[in-house]
Amino acid sequence: MTQASRTPSPTRKVVIPVAGLGTRFLPATKAVPKEMLPVVDVPALQYIVEEAVRAGLPEVMMVTGRNKSAIEDHFDRMPEIEAALERKGDHARLAAVRRPTEMADVHFIRQGQALGLGHAVLCAAPFVGNDVFAVMLGDDLIDSRDLLLERMLEVQAQHGGSVLALLEVGISNIDKYGAVAVQPTDAEDVVRITDLVEKPRQEQAPSSLAIIGRYVLAPEIFAALRDTPPGAGGEIQLTDGIKALATAGQPVHGVVFTGRRYDTGDRLDYLKAVVRLAAERDDLGPAFRDFLVEFSADLTHTQ
Ligand code: UTP
Repeated sequence: MTQASRTPSPTRKVVIPVAGLGTRFLPATKAVPKEMLPVVDVPALQYIVEEAVRAGLPEVMMVTGRNKSAIEDHFDRMPEIEAALERKGDHARLAAVRRPTEMADVHFIRQGQALGLGHAVLCAAPFVGNDVFAVMLGDDLIDSRDLLLERMLEVQAQHGGSVLALLEVGISNIDKYGAVAVQPTDAEDVVRITDLVEKPRQEQAPSSLAIIGRYVLAPEIFAALRDTPPGAGGEIQLTDGIKALATAGQPVHGVVFTGRRYDTGDRLDYLKAVVRLAAERDDLGPAFRDFLVEFSADLTHTQ
């Protein structure tokens, strides 16, 4: 895909819904939100906020549900821990502990009941007002070397309307995602979206291109969501709200992502994310890679 520039866009706001139940990761997510599970030593959600800030979106609204306290605490100051680290002179850890409180302007709003992603986004309407804004799912990790959100903001600035991130997942996996019907555009990585359907059966899917957890949305989405009845799974679906915008003739485009992405709400993908990011770290990487080489030799031996 074309690499986007890092020029800041006029949009500064991002909504991060973190109120889902996280049933795929139970029992770990009984008391801990799945977005707080550590990927090496940083909660998944902090990577998402880092990505937002890098793309020029430092005004963050998290839509929380039950267990919100762990998320709020992480993005708040911790005077006791900070004082202990200061006494020890551990400046590196002190900076790491302060980072989540300093990197962005983080706000919280409560979604009383987990009525669906569309409903969660609607809860953020007073924060967004009449601006274009981004939505990032707290369990969808995009590798920091792949500038997907930057590219989506660039496409929105060019075409207006809304822009979704798309991934080729293969037709046998499409029933887990929102699927789209598309037409090509002049840019190789950009398509125009003509129809959307949430969690279609294979034979009803318009394509095997799935919507993944990055959106840049026009504020008209809120009126559309207010009129959206519960859809797949009895939930108010963001996909259905965006479909209403496309049907009304608003431009909806997709950026087809070909980079590295992990769904940290899925156990296998979570494990892959931890292994890959740990192996690439400067501090842990060398020793961990040695271990992986030994470990995979053992596996080959025992198979
Ligand atoms: P998921 O589809 O992954 O659902 O939500 P989930 O309930 O969190 O997880 P599983 O499937 O039961 O394991 C996609 C995103 O939308 C948020 C979730 O927190 C997640 O980031 N969400 C979903 C809400 O904020 N509110 C909702 O009512 C539903």
